Amino acid sequence: MLAYEQLLAEGYASARAGSGTYAARTLAPDAPATRGAEPVRLPSSPHLSRFGSRAVESARGLPSWRLRETPLPYDFRYGRPASGDFPHDAWRRVLARCARRASQESLDYGVPEGLASLRAAIADYASRTRAVRCGPDDVVIVNGSQQGLDLAARVLVDPGDVVVLEEPHYAGARRVFEAAGARVRAVAVDGDGLRVAELPRMARLAYVTPSHQFPTGAVLPAPRRLALLAWAERAGAWLVEDDYDSEYRYAARPVESLQGLDRVGRVLYVGTFSKVLFPSLRLGYVVVPRALRRAFRAAKSLTDTGTSALEQAALAEFIREGYLARHVSRSRARNAARRGALLEAICEHLGAAAEVTGADAGLHVAALAARRSRLATARARARGRGARCRGLSGDAPLQRAPARRRPGARLRVADGAVDPRRHPAPRARHPAAGALTARPSRRIENWRSGWSQGARRRAPSSSTPTVWAPSGANCTM
Ligand SMILES: Cc1ncc(COP(=O)(O)O)c(C=O)c1O
Repeated sequence: MLAYEQLLAEGYASARAGSGTYAARTLAPDAPATRGAEPVRLPSSPHLSRFGSRAVESARGLPSWRLRETPLPYDFRYGRPASGDFPHDAWRRVLARCARRASQESLDYGVPEGLASLRAAIADYASRTRAVRCGPDDVVIVNGSQQGLDLAARVLVDPGDVVVLEEPHYAGARRVFEAAGARVRAVAVDGDGLRVAELPRMARLAYVTPSHQFPTGAVLPAPRRLALLAWAERAGAWLVEDDYDSEYRYAARPVESLQGLDRVGRVLYVGTFSKVLFPSLRLGYVVVPRALRRAFRAAKSLTDTGTSALEQAALAEFIREGYLARHVSRSRARNAARRGALLEAICEHLGAAAEVTGADAGLHVAALAARRSRLATARARARGRGARCRGLSGDAPLQRAPARRRPGARLRVADGAVDPRRHPAPRARHPAAGALTARPSRRIENWRSGWSQGARRRAPSSSTPTVWAPSGANCTM
């Protein structure tokens, strides 16, 4: 009986009073769900919006680290915190407590900008640790800083607008702005970070990593920071400051945020918990200038109506109860020890063949090959010894030179001698060191970046890194 009712309800059958139940005629031969019928196929390349097409284009050749890879004993993926350091028990307790306490109200949709308790905890944390000038109302909680960048692009960038990126840069940021249809202009980076004097006259936005340039690790000195802010004012540009890993500074005291120096409200400060806690948490925040607050909240509500309330509540308590601060201070010490071992190993096994940059902070260091080499060969060799290393751009394709823009241009990597005095003498041999380099690689692929005009013009040899040197923090030991 139930089966008949179901067929009638779905229109596969029709019933006539006093007569019986009949198969519906309209469904007869060409009904898509009819058994044995050929499934209807959508065209393999459906018509996409311009954004959709640009998003597909930006994902072409995504670095393989986004895919599942066979585990190797030494995986030098950058930017991942060591999961063993994470205080699992404390997190579990806080999460369970928040779940038990969940009120009726907390199960409902929340406000798009995020839970008030978390915004308050973040405002306090960011102003204390990073000198960010903000209160809870300036904070918008996002699903990782990647969403923060995407919201910035949605709210501020129209197709054709000029967006400035550092060169080299974080490919995830470039993908966002390219997908938004921006005309991306790259400005070269040297040992002091972005060459501010070379910024274009006008731009809509500049994406910068002043506290730990990604990926070279350079710290933008105060005069350049001030010049950058002055440029933004002159050019009418917004500055998106990506402060992705500056909790970890090893040698010197933390540098203050660019946002803290901003007196006119041109800086959007983006922070994340991916590097201090764990990336699948997908919690980050944007400290938004007052003038953009409404637009950010509206855009956030359009994209996902807000971030998961349970994790937000748990993170707020985790911060408030001091777990985050304790975890950062403990893992900073451990990362420093790992980093020391790594630098010793690089020094011992690569010596003058590599120059390390950005070793004072963050979760990675970069090594610049002193000679023209092939990245693929070096990586294959390392892999043969059970180690995975990355090219500086993650993997080559994201720094590719799209043929239609700048065919085949390459940066030249100087045959520079590296002063070995800059590296500490090796004390102990680290077990990962042998896996890192069987022998210093002769040919590591040139770092390709031909699409960038800035880079073409100036290819500073000191900032043309070619191999990821692994972060101590990521090193499986
Ligand atoms: C420089 C930089 N910014 C942003 C991100 C994205 O972080 P999230 O996990 O918060 O989206 C990454 C990720 O590795 C990164 O390296």
